[in-house]
Amino acid sequence: MLKGDLLYAGKAKSVYRTDQEGVFLVEFRDDITAFDGGKKDVLSRKGYFNARVSAYLFRHLMERGIPTHFIEMADDRRMLVRSLSMIPLEVIVRNMAAGSMSRNYPIAEGTPLHPPVIVIDYKDDVRHDPMLNDDLIMALKILNAGELARVKEMALAVNTHLIRFFDSLGITLVDFKLEFGRLNDEIMLGDEISMDSMRLWDTSTGESLDKDVYRFSKGDVMEVYRRVADKICAG
Ligand code: TYD
Repeated sequence: MLKGDLLYAGKAKSVYRTDQEGVFLVEFRDDITAFDGGKKDVLSRKGYFNARVSAYLFRHLMERGIPTHFIEMADDRRMLVRSLSMIPLEVIVRNMAAGSMSRNYPIAEGTPLHPPVIVIDYKDDVRHDPMLNDDLIMALKILNAGELARVKEMALAVNTHLIRFFDSLGITLVDFKLEFGRLNDEIMLGDEISMDSMRLWDTSTGESLDKDVYRFSKGDVMEVYRRVADKICAG
């Protein structure tokens, strides 16, 4: 598979065309950012750990009937994916209050949320990803009512599968962010599922096992990413 033109470079991943129609190559770089790009670093092997975990979790979900863009790994940090027409939403599922939820609303970090809370942001850097609601999503013609229902149903199904998986590893899935795209008329999971896009807590110690280690300088970020990746991919 030949790597073609660079189509898009995000904060931590770059997307390339390939010589195969409808197939893109996603490269997980070693860049790490937080606070809307306000904190940035390059951490050796970070791209490898996130690519490995994303591939593992995409496979895990596909085996359980969730459609995703994942095809296969091209090498240890580059993933072949189906090219989707991306939907500009960040779909966040929360099982416990944390992060912006506890900053913006009167609810203590760690408060369990039953049922889980879905928050959907508009993916738009210039506007700093404002939060949407169902009416806004339809007024902006991002999704119709049926598609919105499908996105929420898929997000909750992913949550159920991931909660069960992480529970078996002694890890609590606090929250995570998904992005979806369209392939013809089908909505599929795209982007990544990694330590950058999930909040994971050690169930017995409460230790952060995700990008919060970087955001809040809680320790050796790459030691944590390596340890979590090993645990997930052995699971
Ligand atoms: P959230 O608490 O909304 O934001 P913050 O990380 O600023 O505290 O994040 C909820 C989850 O979604 C968390 O696991 C990180 C993930 N997320 C992203 O991956 N990208 C994003 O742009 C946002 C807003 C969240």
